[in-house]
Amino acid sequence: MSTEISRRTFIKGATAAGVALAAGTYFTWNGHNIPEPVKHGDVTYDVLVIGSGGAGMRAALAAAENKDLKVAVMTKLVPTRSASTMAQGGMNGVTGVTDPQDTVESHVFDTVKGGDYLCDQDAVEYFAEHAGKNIYEMDYMGYPYNRQEDGSFHQRKMGGSSHPRAAYFEDRAGHAMVHALFEKCLEQNIDFISECQMLEISMDGDKLNGVVAMDMRSGNLVGVAAKTVIIATGGYGRVYWIRTSNPYSSTGDGIVAGMNIGIPFKDPEMVQFHPTGLAANGVLLSESSRAEGALLINGQGERFMGKYAPEKLELATRDIVARGIATEIAEGRGVGEGIHAGVYLDFRHIPGERIDERLGQVRDLSRRFAGVDIKTEMVLISPTCHYSMGGLEMADFRTGASRVPGVFVAGECSCVSVHGANRLGANSLSEVLVFGHTAGDGAAAYAKDHAYEGNQEKLAQACAKWQDKFNEVTNRPKSAGKTVPEIRDAMVNTMWYKAGVFREENQLQEAAMELSALEKEYEHCYVGDKSHVYNTAFEQYVELGNLLQVSHSIVQGAIARKESRGGHSRRDYPKRDDVNFLKHTLIFKKDGQYVTEYKDVVITKYQPQERKY
Ligand code: FUM
Repeated sequence: MSTEISRRTFIKGATAAGVALAAGTYFTWNGHNIPEPVKHGDVTYDVLVIGSGGAGMRAALAAAENKDLKVAVMTKLVPTRSASTMAQGGMNGVTGVTDPQDTVESHVFDTVKGGDYLCDQDAVEYFAEHAGKNIYEMDYMGYPYNRQEDGSFHQRKMGGSSHPRAAYFEDRAGHAMVHALFEKCLEQNIDFISECQMLEISMDGDKLNGVVAMDMRSGNLVGVAAKTVIIATGGYGRVYWIRTSNPYSSTGDGIVAGMNIGIPFKDPEMVQFHPTGLAANGVLLSESSRAEGALLINGQGERFMGKYAPEKLELATRDIVARGIATEIAEGRGVGEGIHAGVYLDFRHIPGERIDERLGQVRDLSRRFAGVDIKTEMVLISPTCHYSMGGLEMADFRTGASRVPGVFVAGECSCVSVHGANRLGANSLSEVLVFGHTAGDGAAAYAKDHAYEGNQEKLAQACAKWQDKFNEVTNRPKSAGKTVPEIRDAMVNTMWYKAGVFREENQLQEAAMELSALEKEYEHCYVGDKSHVYNTAFEQYVELGNLLQVSHSIVQGAIARKESRGGHSRRDYPKRDDVNFLKHTLIFKKDGQYVTEYKDVVITKYQPQERKY
């Protein structure tokens, strides 16, 4: 087997080599100029995508197929620095290539079972039907798949999958995907509005005005008028700060902006803890490690997964493996103490060439962040917050539409209800491609059918309101209150210890009280930095507000769900309760209050059964 990367050799390790240029252009990529952010009133975009990860760029590409539409991607980062870039293991899809026995039906069933029956099965059917096609489509876009001798791409078997189904590039699947998409976006002349932090989606009643953002380079408030907005801002793992595999930028910005205009946060309590984060700092060691044969070993030298998943062992679903590891640690069979305690991941029996060919990044990350060479030593790991199964409710999975006219959602910040209560490894990159595409098509169709009906005066007023807020917040005296890091550290402790892998009523109630107190302290916290250019202190202040709102929603959903299902594990309610809780949680923000409602789960073929792995 060989790795064929001839068409995109530059992708490996490539970064957006930004070069600051004269006014009007921020940086170039392959000869394309990436423009400065627009000022309010300057441009009305037909489709404005917020977020430059896999979902955002796939959506932009789909929308830009309509040559008469103006399409832009806004990101608080630069386009190739999104969380999608960090995805490692692969993208699932039935292709008939590596395993001709695999079927769409099996993909649907594995996903529904993996999601502990909280998946909307009609959405899963749509997803699985399209996932294989996306693997081929990425091939045509230049994705440098690991290949078999005959040139066809190789697929590996990730946790909870009954067949090898994840196509991949080494253990850098997301990195290659983002670069392939970005290059296509540049070919399509999609505008990139980089380093612009979205602060608000501005509405005039039920009419969309556009987006208010801070241009980090100048500190200017910009209002970008748009007929449609696609929220594709990714997850919120930083709720758990260093116990997450997510980048610092994963702060739930889009979820909060969506909630603030009336879109509910669906199933917020469904947080995924990935089994194998480095114990030292939460950095992800891909599930492809276990797909390639790595074993989990406790502090007593025992391979322990047989106790928790007798058949699938290390390749059971993530919720089960993460709880197995957490139980070993809690019952004294781990290694080390406190938040950095863990168990071992052992690669020493895997041939070195296979590690080089398929797990290069895992080896590199272990060396850099844990000082361990996995070819010769075991590496200490423990569960790390990895993914949000919940997100902004997608009201129609065939268009990506939310319940707010003109506003679409895609990717991890959205909840299509494909993943239910627990996502399967490698279903995420496929999901961003399938539903990114759908949302791009949906927004484009909406933009063609509707004139811009927003109110640019209101958009300008919203910018002015944020300017006032910036001035007020950054001019507070030191005596005003706690600092942003102090409040964030307290939030993180509350979330990790009281709303983490295992949960129970009294701890969740304490968490709710502590978060309410922190939200009050946040209102008068100290930020300090008044400067305009790259004021990251203000940016982190905004992000902390978002993380607190996300945390509040997670805890409220977790208190109400008095059962254990997928990633939501209640010690006081250890069983799944289909009689009372086979339903989605919806958390709305109404007049400053968090309001809980419920919605039915869509069942088509698969009645809930007990999960066994
Ligand atoms: O472990 C991993 O490689 C993660 C993959 C995923 O979240 O899909």
